[in-house]
Formats: sequence, structure tokens, C-alpha cells
Amino acid sequence: MDKLVIFGGRPLNGEVRVSGAKNSVLPILAATLLTDEPCVIKNAPYLRDTNTMLRILRSLGKNAEFSNDKIHVTTRESDKFIADYRLVSTMRASFCVLGPLLGKLKKAKVSYPGGCVIGIRPVDLHLKGIEALGAEVKIESGYVNTQAKNLKGNHIYLGGEFGSSVLATDNVMMAATLAKGKTIIEAAACEPEVTDLANFLVKMGAKIKGQGSPRIEIEGVKQLHGAEYSIIPDRIEAGTFMLAAAITKGQITIKGVIWEHLLALIDKLEQAGVKIKKIDGKLIVNGKRRLKPVNATTLPYPGFPTDLQAQFMTLMAVTPGASIISEKIYPDRFMHIAELNRMGANIKREGPHAIVQGVKLLSGAPLMASDLRASAALVLAGLVARGKTEISRIYHLDRGYENLEVKLNKLGAKIHREKE
Ligand code: EPZ
Repeated sequence: MDKLVIFGGRPLNGEVRVSGAKNSVLPILAATLLTDEPCVIKNAPYLRDTNTMLRILRSLGKNAEFSNDKIHVTTRESDKFIADYRLVSTMRASFCVLGPLLGKLKKAKVSYPGGCVIGIRPVDLHLKGIEALGAEVKIESGYVNTQAKNLKGNHIYLGGEFGSSVLATDNVMMAATLAKGKTIIEAAACEPEVTDLANFLVKMGAKIKGQGSPRIEIEGVKQLHGAEYSIIPDRIEAGTFMLAAAITKGQITIKGVIWEHLLALIDKLEQAGVKIKKIDGKLIVNGKRRLKPVNATTLPYPGFPTDLQAQFMTLMAVTPGASIISEKIYPDRFMHIAELNRMGANIKREGPHAIVQGVKLLSGAPLMASDLRASAALVLAGLVARGKTEISRIYHLDRGYENLEVKLNKLGAKIHREKE
């Protein structure tokens, strides 16, 4: 296993380009199961999770290979409908093969995903949605076993206790593209990655309207064809670099970004005193001023993203004064607090809230990464801490950040990877 070693205390300066969005490429790759024709996915990030999805596609009868930042998908066998536990259990996003398999083959058997370190993460909304399309669903030996003679469009409310669901919207939308008649998804997730998937489906011949809003309308078609498509930039990676500029008191130009996708973070950072210039395809983030604490509450898009909560908390941990960070999507997504406190942060958890008393300085320490975004938060902490920080179990970071340490070193960080 690899660990990251960071020598902190250097302001980051310069330019960085963000990669394609992890949370777009995964469902978009799953969507290629809706056709037997070849698909080409461009601007695909080379990540551990992307590779896991390619392995799942291969197990489902596709040939799927990277060449530079393109993924070519072709069909070897088109009747495979079982997504195995060993693959699905390594990555929850693999559950989004359920919708396309059901849509295309009218049957699917997909391992029921477990919980994970950020919370229980049920799949009731996914199942409710596909049942509403007429599929019969059985949970058998750890698998979701589902089939339908015909899928029929329906008017479906997909809101849950914690708001809308990204992957449930994806799954139902994909299944509905090949259902008979019209499907309306109410309380659909509005995340840009859902819109990206819908746009890819439209390129494949699907009839979809309203993506990006809470009401998505899908008019079923008989079949979908192959398509070439370019993935949107990763707003969470971009947000992590914005926070890196702010926390190290540097100035970073982030290229290849759609800044409209980052309005909630931009708003919070500006309130804190970070200067941000928004230019087409670019963000210039200047963190050289003295910052002040601000509260943040995670919410579905366009609210503040849960996937930036840990990284934002790290910034508040070194911003003198008090702030409250509330988690409304995953109330248990706070694994980073204990590690940040080991570096000298002063953060107390009260249920779904974290009360952060900003300190002047963090000190480098040996740390354990627990999940993807918590790992990114620990990297930010290491960048600003005095001395040496070592982060173990860094494979979490490789799931979702392409060449993070290479990009950070180019900006002036001192960070390298070692075998443990
Ligand atoms: C997606 O997960 C992302 N993953 C997550 O990114 C992200 O944190 C999350 O959306 C929220 O934005 C991918 O896109 C691959 P949800 P998803 O269903 O779709 C509850 C990262 O670090 N819920 O939108 O699985 C759920 O428990 C990750 O990149 C139900 O109650 O999340 C949560 O409270 C991790 N029933 C809320 O909805 C369901 O059937 C939103 O979850 C499904 C979800």
C-alpha cells in the first residue's frame, strides 16, 4: 500500500487543469450497456474507480479500454446481466449498471451494495423507481434480482428523507429511455453529473427533457445507438484546488472548469475573504488575505456539496474564530474530524454538526485516510501544517483524484508517494 508524505507550509501558486468528472464518467460508462454499438467517452479521468467500472463492463460482455483520455467501448456479448458481488462491493457507483441492464435486457441481477464509511446509503429509491416502471424486484442472496416483461413509463416521485438521489435518478432515467411511453421523474437530482448523463443519453438517441431541473421527462424509444461524448470537468476536484489556494494563502488559476457548477463554494469562499475571479473556463483563486470563519450546510445541488464538506472544514479548522459545518446528506460523514484533531485542530461533533474553533496552526502527523473526500481534506491539512504529514491508505485518494500529487507539486507543494 502507498502512503503520501507531505512537507507543509508552502503557498501554492500557478496553474492547474482539472480532469473529467469521476461522478459523470461512472454512470456514463454504465449507460453504454444500453446499446450494442460502439461508444467513445472523451476527457475520461484515469482513476481507480474508472478502472473498476471498466472491469464491471468487461464482466458484462463489453470490451472497454483506455487510450490516453478516451475510453472505447464495444460489445463482445450482449446477454450478460449479472454484476458480481466482488466487483460491486468495491465501489457503490457500480450499482448504476442496474438501470441500463434492466432497460436493455429487461432483467438484471446486481449485487446489493453494502454501507460504507460515510454512512448506511440505502437503495430504496432506486428500487422504488424501477418498480414504478413495472419491474419485479426481489432481494435474493445479497443480490437485487429484477425483471420485467415490458417496462412502462410512469410518473415517479423520487424524493427521499435526505432529498433527491443522484444515482437513483441516473438508474431510473437510464431504464426509462427504453421503456414504453413517457416517464416523469419528480424530485430528480439536479447535479451537473446527472445532466451530463442525460446529455450523453440524448446523443445515443434518447428523448429527455428537463435535465438539471427537479422534473425530468423521458419519452421511451425502441433502441439507442452508439455515441461519442466528452465528460464535463470535475467540480469537486476544482473545488479542492480552490480550497488548496485558500488554505496555503497562495494563488491558483484553475483551468478547464465550469465555474457555474461551483457557485455554492465560491459564495462561501468569498464570504470568508478569498478573492475569486470568474473567467470563461477559468477560475483565479487568491487566498492571500486574512480569512474569517463562515458556516456551511451541505445540500443537494445547487447547494453546498457534501463532497467538499471535509475539505472546507479543513480550511475553517485553520481560520481563527468559530464556524458550524452541518451535513444534511450524510449525517455521519465526519471521519476526518478525529484525524484533523490529531494535527491540533479543535473540532467537536454534535450529531450532524461540526463545531469548528479555528486554530493558528496545525502540526504534521501520521494520519489514516478513511474515504475519498476525507483523504483530500487530510492532504489540504498536510499542505498547511508545520512539518511532516504522512497519510496512509492513500488508495482512497486514487479512487477519485487523477495525479493529485503531481498536480500539487507543480503548484509548489512538497509531496511524494512512498510504499508502506
Ligand atoms: C452520489 O452518490 C455521488 N456518487 C457521491 O459522491 C455524492 O456524495 C452523492 O451523490 C451526493 O451528492 C456518484 O455520483 C458516483 P445519493 P449517491 O443517492 O448517488 C439517500 C464521492 O465522494 N438515499 O444522491 O449514491 C442517501 O443515503 C461520492 O465522489 C436514500 O435514502 O448519493 C443520502 O442521504 C461519495 N435512498 C442521500 O439520499 C436511496 O435509495 C443522497 O444520496 C438513495 C439515496
